[in-house]
Amino acid sequence: MREVRRVELDPSQVRPGSTLRPITRFVVEHDGVEQASVVFGRAEIFAREPAEYALARLRWVEGGLDAARAAVTAAVDSAPPGAAVYLPVNAAVSPDHAAHRVVAETCGFALFQEKEAFWWADTGQALPEPTSLRLEPMSRIGREALVPVIGRCLAQTLDRTDALVFGRHRPEQWVTSFLDHRATGADAQSWMYAETTSGIPVGFVGLAQRVGDPGVGTIVLIGVLPEQRGHGYVDQLLLAAYRAARARGFSAVQSLVDVNNRPMMAAMCRSGADPSAHPWHKWLYTTTRAA
Ligand SMILES: CC(C)(COP(=O)(O)OP(=O)(O)OC[C@H]1O[C@@H](n2cnc3c(N)ncnc32)[C@H](O)[C@@H]1OP(=O)(O)O)[C@@H](O)C(=O)NCCC(=O)NCCS
Repeated sequence: MREVRRVELDPSQVRPGSTLRPITRFVVEHDGVEQASVVFGRAEIFAREPAEYALARLRWVEGGLDAARAAVTAAVDSAPPGAAVYLPVNAAVSPDHAAHRVVAETCGFALFQEKEAFWWADTGQALPEPTSLRLEPMSRIGREALVPVIGRCLAQTLDRTDALVFGRHRPEQWVTSFLDHRATGADAQSWMYAETTSGIPVGFVGLAQRVGDPGVGTIVLIGVLPEQRGHGYVDQLLLAAYRAARARGFSAVQSLVDVNNRPMMAAMCRSGADPSAHPWHKWLYTTTRAA
C-alpha cells in the first residue's frame, strides 16, 4: 500500500551553496519501501528578494514516476493556500532533468523561465579594443553615472526573472542596491558605462567574478539603451567584457541568458561563447497552491 510520510526538518540546516531552508521532506513509500521523496522549504529563488516556497532534492526509484508525482503533489499541498511554489531543475545537477520536467509539468507546474549558460574560454584569441564605443569603468565615473542608464536598459529586459524583480521595485532604487551588492571591490572596475565616440550614451556591461569560482567571470547584466538598439553595439559590449575578464586574469566567462532573449542569445553565439561547453541549463517551474 502507498503512503506519504512527512519528516519535519530543521530550517537552520542549510547546505553549503544552497539557500534552501528545509521545512518538510515528503517520502512516498510502498509497503514500507521508499519510492520517492522531495524536500519542501523556502529558498532565495530570486536573488536578494524574499524567500519563496520551493521544492528541491526530488528523487525516485526506477519506475517510480507516479510516486514522484505523489511526493510533489503532497509537498505543494503543504504550502499556504494561494502561495506560489517554485521547482528549479538544472541539467548540471540532474542528469535525468527531462524526467524531472515531466514530473513538474504533469503536476500542474508551468515553466516560468528557461536559461542557457554560455561559456567563453580565453584561448588567447585577439580581443581588439572596441572601435565604435568609449568605455568608462564605474570605479572611475562613479555609481551615480551608471544607475539611470542601467534603469532605462532594464525597463525593457527580455529576461523573465529580471522583469519580475524589476517590476516589484522603483527602478533606480533597485539598480542602486543591486550595484551595492554586485559591483563592489574589484568588480567595480569591470562594470562599464558605454557611449559613442561622439559622447552619446549607448549602454553598459557588468562583469564580476562568478560566486565560488575565483578563476571564472560572469556577465551579470548587459544592456543597450532602447534608442540605440539594432546597431550591433551589444557585440562591442561583450568584447569589452571579455577584455576586462582577461585583464582580471579570468580563464573563462560563464554567462546565463534567458532563452526567450533572442537578441542576447544570438549575440552570445556571435561572441564565440559556447552553450554546449557546460551542462548548466536551468528550467524554473512554478505553480500556485489552490486557495
Ligand atoms: C539584448 C540587447 C543588449 C541587444 O543589444 P543590441 O545592440 O540592440 O543588439 P543588436 O544590434 O544585435 O540587435 C538585436 C536585435 O534587435 C533588433 N532591433 C533593432 N532595433 C531595435 C529596437 N529599436 N529595439 C529593440 N530591438 C531592436 C535588431 O533588429 C536585432 O535583430 P536581428 O538580430 O534579427 O537583426 C538589447 O536588446 C537590450 O539591451 N535589451 C534589454 C536588456 C537585456 O535584455 N539584457 C540582457 C539580459 S541582462
